[in-house]
Amino acid sequence: MDNPVVVVGGSGRVGRIIVQRLLERRESVCAIGRSGHRARRHLAPGAAFIEGDVRAPKTLKAPLAGCSAVVYCVEPGTENHGPDRPETTMYQGVRNVLAAATAGANRPHVVLVSQLHATHQGHPLNAYGRLLSWRFAGEDLLRESGLPYTVVRPGWLIDDRAAGHRVRLDQGDQGTGQVTRDDVAESCVQALYTPAARGVTFEIFNEPGTPLPSWGAAFGALSWDRTPVGLT
Ligand SMILES: NC(=O)c1ccc[n+]([C@@H]2O[C@H](COP(=O)([O-])OP(=O)(O)OC[C@H]3O[C@@H](n4cnc5c(N)ncnc54)[C@H](OP(=O)(O)O)[C@@H]3O)[C@@H](O)[C@H]2O)c1
Repeated sequence: MDNPVVVVGGSGRVGRIIVQRLLERRESVCAIGRSGHRARRHLAPGAAFIEGDVRAPKTLKAPLAGCSAVVYCVEPGTENHGPDRPETTMYQGVRNVLAAATAGANRPHVVLVSQLHATHQGHPLNAYGRLLSWRFAGEDLLRESGLPYTVVRPGWLIDDRAAGHRVRLDQGDQGTGQVTRDDVAESCVQALYTPAARGVTFEIFNEPGTPLPSWGAAFGALSWDRTPVGLT
């Protein structure tokens, strides 16, 4: 890509794998997070880091200006009120990042890490600051942005292969299961390089079996949310 890829939440456990994989592809990568200490501890050498908070638009302008792509993998707070409620990170934060990334008519591909059950407003998780409602509202902001986008809804995140090596991509938000952070990160990176991953929303799970032979074929089997930009 011509300009940096910005990973918002790039010092997190999924984000830092995304950063590493992008560096391996020789991309210029900038991570955004609130804690410089966390970034220094976990970010691969070669990645830039800029302190920023998705709730504070002024902190996002410089790192997102002119970027080629954005991956958003921010952990929400779960308070009902106050600055750590999900509305701020899952909705307003997405809005703030989209505004900064599109300044000057820039049109990056944006990959949003959401979660399974985002459409299930009656799920017990929604008792935590209406987390799922705000997740879905943030997804919708992106889907309606007119940008090339991918919405990734991981199952329950794990760091071992207990759930199996096969990756399953689902649509319709009816499934459940676990998925490794590694596979979620890889799906985000692969989406940036695969036209068939534009304009889609999918869940991702692991199950027993062999690793995915082709991400392109897996994305190609998904249905578009609507006719994606640039592929009419
Ligand atoms: N746990 C699960 O089973 C599960 C299931 C489905 C989806 N998910 C989602 O998957 C995503 C990745 O998860 P993970 O395990 O990688 O999370 P994580 O390790 O907690 O990382 C979260 C990242 O978000 C950054 N962050 C948090 N608040 C921020 C803010 N206001 N502004 C800027 N950056 C902020 C953190 O850095 P600082 O703290 O330094 O700001 C960190 O880099 C999250 O959205 C998570 O909710 C999780």
